[in-house]
Amino acid sequence: MAEYKHLRVEKDEGIRLVTISRPEALNALNREVLDELKDVFSSPGDGFEVVIITGEGKAFVAGADIGEMRSMDSVEATEFSRMGQEVFSLIESYPWPTIAAINGYALGGGLELALACDIRVASEKAKMGQPEVNLAVIPGFGGTQRLPRLIGPGRAFDLLYTGKMVSAGEALSMGLVNAVFSPEELLQGARKIASEILKKGPEAIRTIKWLVRKGLDVPLEDGLIMERLAFGRLFSTSDQKEGMAAFLQKRAPEFTGK
Ligand code: CAA
Repeated sequence: MAEYKHLRVEKDEGIRLVTISRPEALNALNREVLDELKDVFSSPGDGFEVVIITGEGKAFVAGADIGEMRSMDSVEATEFSRMGQEVFSLIESYPWPTIAAINGYALGGGLELALACDIRVASEKAKMGQPEVNLAVIPGFGGTQRLPRLIGPGRAFDLLYTGKMVSAGEALSMGLVNAVFSPEELLQGARKIASEILKKGPEAIRTIKWLVRKGLDVPLEDGLIMERLAFGRLFSTSDQKEGMAAFLQKRAPEFTGK
């Protein structure tokens, strides 16, 4: 597995844990960190897996690196935004499920990173927000687009206009995170969700991810056609036969990914 300056990547029993580790800057995303994340998500791993992204120390990610952005001109800032958007789109379209385990501050680009993941779980200590307006700028890594799609425009406007930080409990109540755990149990909680997913038919999981992601961008009628074709395709897999036989024989299935 590749070595990185700001990331730790560990794989165990189908779970790939990616820890962003730049604690001296609360894991802020500079170009180096973005490049490393791009490298991790550029190839689809070696088979069925769930990726958990978390942060080292008291932050998940406290945003894009303000020190690096400070002296950017419009051209450089546009390019920085394009770069972050490209990396987060790679994460969003990664073929296997992704879970953001939000251990602390997830602000600005940090919340945008979590929004690019499929599932978000948070520590009771987490604080989330889009504080860019405090710096007289806007989210540049997808926040104005993914946040309203996830929690609706009304709640998104509130967070985007005020730049306020919300607690894990508030985030849960607005559907921004799926579950809240104590700090000690956060990774265990994320791993439990991952392990549950890893028991399922791999092609079914990959197909669901693809359909949900692609389906949100097409009219319902087209999405239903995509679903129908994908549903049919799964009936040519041996896992479908195994899954249904195991159910009828009242035993646990043994999936092979074929
Ligand atoms: N970029 C660069 N450095 C950052 C940073 C960031 N986003 N966030 C924190 N740091 C650095 C601080 O400058 C500080 O460095 P020094 O020790 O060298 O002074 C170190 O991390 C620790 O931070 P604090 O001393 O501020 O820690 P705190 O506990 O007092 O406060 C905090 C924590 C509330 C998260 C505060 O650090 C903060 O408000 N950070 C900025 C959050 C922010 O505005 N994020 C949005 C960035 S813009 C963006 O992300 C645009 C986009 O969408 C692309």
